[in-house]
Amino acid sequence: EAGNISRELSSELGSNIEIYDVDGKDLSNLSNAQAIINDDVQLNAVKGLISYKINYMDNRVVVDLSYPVLKDNITIGIVRFYKDYTEIFSYNKRFKEIINAFAVMIFIAIFIVSLVLSRHITKPVRKLINSTERISKGDFDSKIDIDSEDEIGELAGRFKIMVQRIRGQIRIIERDRDDLKEAQMHSKVFFDNVTHELKTPLTTILGYAQIIKENGFSDKNFFDKGIFCIINESKRMNKMVVQVLEISKFNSSGSKYQFKRVNFSELIVKTCDEMGIKARKYGINIRCLIQDGLAIYGDEDKLKEIIINLIDNSIKYGNVNSDVECKAYHEGNHIFVKIKDKGKGIPKECIDNLFEPFYRISKRFSREKGSVGLGLTIVKKIVERHNGTVNIKSVENIGTEVTLDFKGENND
Ligand SMILES: Nc1ncnc2c1ncn2[C@@H]1O[C@H](COP(=O)(O)OP(=O)(O)OP(=O)(O)O)[C@@H](O)[C@H]1O
Ligand SMILES: [Mg+2]
Repeated sequence: EAGNISRELSSELGSNIEIYDVDGKDLSNLSNAQAIINDDVQLNAVKGLISYKINYMDNRVVVDLSYPVLKDNITIGIVRFYKDYTEIFSYNKRFKEIINAFAVMIFIAIFIVSLVLSRHITKPVRKLINSTERISKGDFDSKIDIDSEDEIGELAGRFKIMVQRIRGQIRIIERDRDDLKEAQMHSKVFFDNVTHELKTPLTTILGYAQIIKENGFSDKNFFDKGIFCIINESKRMNKMVVQVLEISKFNSSGSKYQFKRVNFSELIVKTCDEMGIKARKYGINIRCLIQDGLAIYGDEDKLKEIIINLIDNSIKYGNVNSDVECKAYHEGNHIFVKIKDKGKGIPKECIDNLFEPFYRISKRFSREKGSVGLGLTIVKKIVERHNGTVNIKSVENIGTEVTLDFKGENND
């Protein structure tokens, strides 16, 4: 009967089923070369335990399972089951291999990605280090071409801003240094000129004074000429000292301006009148064409000084018995003052130098007229202090026109 059950089960499950009694006798009577492989398995089954063993033979995997048959909790026999799991095992093995291969691939991929990533991170850092090195050596124009949008990019961006700021500050310092150098040079030239210009009249005065001391009144003509020169040169020196003091006040910004609303029309008319006395000595007529009610916000005395200086020039350098025209009018919010003479004019190449201290076109000629060469320097400084501009147009042997352009007060 056991043989029948065993055969039925074997054909049903497609594997070998053997039935033993507790002594290990094969009841199924099926002769199979692999019938008893391991006693331990059987022994366990006899003890009432389900026991199994995996046997590897000739590339085949056979599972040997023994199952106790119990009756009233007593083992009366064993059912032994052999199943060939070669296919499942080899499938499992392939699956394991695939997983291993996959793991290796993932590992390689992670390795490559981390390599690329670290390169990606270290490359801009290296670039940044190189840039900082160049900048630390003073090359502030070297470029930092890192455009990434990560933290390194942000750091590079901030660094660029920092470099730009430093570059800006350096430019300011350099500009200030150049300005200072230029100012020092200007003040040196200015004081060299002052010394030179003061020496000339002093030499003249001393020369005449010594001869007069020696000769007394014996030579009346020489005495008169000497005294005339001494007085003239002394006046010129006095004027120069006053003008130099005024310029030095401008430079040290110690010059105090009393700004207020000034009736400019009235001021110009009055000044023209006053200058008329000097003009008449040379047969010069000052034609005053002043629009009424021109108002300007400025320093009255300084504005007057501008007009005096310009009319003085027109009288000094204008032709004898000619006209000097003084015009003032407003155009929009601007007030224009034009002082025009008919005279020897100014050579084109000299016009740019006119505002330089002590600049005179003909020293001999202007000295005779008691000139120092500071008038236009002072004019320009005062005009600029009033936010205005001076422009000089001149044609040689025809005449000169000086134009002042100021911003007016309620002239519309
Ligand atoms: N209207 C003018 N016509 C011709 N030359 C002029 C005229 N105004 C100025 N100049 C020239 O420009 C020079 C500079 O003028 P500026 O008024 O600065 O000095 P100055 O008249 O010589 O002396 P200062 O005004 O100090 O008494 C003059 O020496 C003169 O050569
Ligand atoms: Mg002058």
